[in-house]
Amino acid sequence: MFAYNYVRIFAPATIANVGCGFDVMGLALNEPGDEIVVSRSDKPGVRITDITGDGGLLPRDAEKNTAGIGLVKLWEKLGAEGGLEVEIHKKMPMGSGLGSSAASAVGGVAAFNALLETPMPNEQLLPYILEGERVACGTPHADNAAPGLYGGFVLVRSSDPVDVIPINSPEDLYAAVLHPHIEILTEDTRRILRKNIPLSLAVRQWANVGGLIAGLLNRDYDLISRSLPDVVIEPVRSVLIPGFDAVKHSALDSGALGCSISGSGPSIFALCRGEEQARRSGKAMQQTLDRLELESDLYISPINNEGPKILERK
Ligand code: HSE
Repeated sequence: MFAYNYVRIFAPATIANVGCGFDVMGLALNEPGDEIVVSRSDKPGVRITDITGDGGLLPRDAEKNTAGIGLVKLWEKLGAEGGLEVEIHKKMPMGSGLGSSAASAVGGVAAFNALLETPMPNEQLLPYILEGERVACGTPHADNAAPGLYGGFVLVRSSDPVDVIPINSPEDLYAAVLHPHIEILTEDTRRILRKNIPLSLAVRQWANVGGLIAGLLNRDYDLISRSLPDVVIEPVRSVLIPGFDAVKHSALDSGALGCSISGSGPSIFALCRGEEQARRSGKAMQQTLDRLELESDLYISPINNEGPKILERK
């Protein structure tokens, strides 16, 4: 069953929703991300032996941990002998809207898969990763987990049963991602959403989802730009992010294709044509927050088409 005893893996941050695609679209970034180490052990069961970079906040009990629970379920399912030791090295902000819980969940399951003689396909792995999302925020949405696992830009047509569609995107599509130093919990931002929306808004939103997918596939930047707006979720959630409107204006004024909340926030992303433009827009966005005396980190990344990356294996 196993070809290796030890693996260290990088699992990327992700932008979920990508404007109009609440809960159904996401993309992977080159940075930031988490590092997960999984080793085989003689002691039975799945044990978390070390967590760094979490400020002591994450549960050490594997069943309650977003990276651990998927491994526990996989281990039970495969009925493997012995056990696993898991190290989680958080190298990205938590509660940031960059898919921190999904990165850990993807890293754990992908690391386990990388130990196997015959690795399992992504669609079989995703349900185990979604267990991690359920533990982290109560909802097993797949729009961080799926791009984190598959890499690239994905459409989650359904997460149960899994129906994930990779969408080719232009090579020079870059994201500028601004992470303001405040923490917002996904479950809180989901609680404030309206349960029903007017049909007129729904029509605009699903027209944009179709437009964005067509724009990506056809490398039509004007269409991508016209289709990114989120008319349903952003107006509700953006009030939780200080300076959001000003940051968005600065992104659009500086030439970004579009700008919205990354996942459930507080991070704000802008999609741009080319790295130079992404740097220009990112700088403009960060300067706007600087003027409001809000600290932030800025990441510039193309779409990461690789997903989890094996850093070391033996
Ligand atoms: N689609 C989810 C949400 C992503 O917006 O609540 C959370 O990261």
